[in-house]
Amino acid sequence: MKIGVVGLGTMGAGIAQLAVEAGLETVGHEVTYELGERARARIEHFLSRKVDKGQIDSFDIDLLTLTIGLDDLADCDVVIEAIVEELDPKRELFAELDRICRPDAVLATNTSALSVTEIAGGATRPERVVGMHFFNPAPLMPLVEIVRAERTSDEAFETAYALGERLGKHPIRCHDTPGFVVNRVLIPLLNDCLRVLDEARVTPADLDAGMRHGAGWPMGPCELVDLVGIDVHVHASEALWEKLREPRMAPPPRLVAMANAGLLGRKSGRGFYEYDES
Ligand code: CAA
Repeated sequence: MKIGVVGLGTMGAGIAQLAVEAGLETVGHEVTYELGERARARIEHFLSRKVDKGQIDSFDIDLLTLTIGLDDLADCDVVIEAIVEELDPKRELFAELDRICRPDAVLATNTSALSVTEIAGGATRPERVVGMHFFNPAPLMPLVEIVRAERTSDEAFETAYALGERLGKHPIRCHDTPGFVVNRVLIPLLNDCLRVLDEARVTPADLDAGMRHGAGWPMGPCELVDLVGIDVHVHASEALWEKLREPRMAPPPRLVAMANAGLLGRKSGRGFYEYDES
């Protein structure tokens, strides 16, 4: 099986890492070779650490080839999209992939809060479009949501499910409703947490300690939003707010201000906390 991954940012690189670890031939697409090389170096680093720690015996980084041309995805069996979380670029990409890829290839989107059905609208064969929603960090989080859009075929859906298992994940089946399963719950919950920052006049560190030590969360809400990316969380909240119109879905103004100021969390070196690596 040959996998394509379009977009090698945090999520795409994590997905490509899973594919290489599973021994699958993988084509990674980025807009420049420099960005692609940066992702490949991170993948090699994390897989080497796994070898050092005895978690895997070996891996073959040459399974991952890089490209800046979508045509190189033509013979992939499954292509997973992980580009910017905006509808128009995704629709355009799916229209392009639909033209380039074999008719039996499955086209998956890793969107976290947009509608898979709307993204599939860019393709002339929407039956082969499905959601494969991984969680951040993709190599560490066991879940993948397999999302059935309005016109997804059973074949495409089951192929995506089987690929999720092959990548070592725990897949769950769901339909294309706003936020699918986990984000439908997690996004308003995180927004509640962040509003409590102002309401209870608690510091981010104390809020995080509260949720870690009082609710058993593996990391606090501020740490988690810093990890996910403040811009990504604001985007996802806006998408859910737009569809569901529930006040808890709307991004807290404090987060919107941070996103506008370029305080994006770990990836920008600063969010609720400061980070060495940027
Ligand atoms: N690939 C492989 N290994 C990686 C890695 C990667 N991409 N990133 C980090 N690691 C490694 C670390 O380097 C570390 O290895 P070393 O021992 O070699 O340093 C190892 O994994 C473990 O790292 P941590 O010590 O940080 O691990 P942890 O036990 O503290 O767990 C965690 C980390 C899994 C992230 C845990 O804190 C957790 O579960 N947090 C919650 C995360 C979460 O809720 N994610 C969902 C976000 S919401 C979302 O994603 C939805 C959306 O659509 C936006």
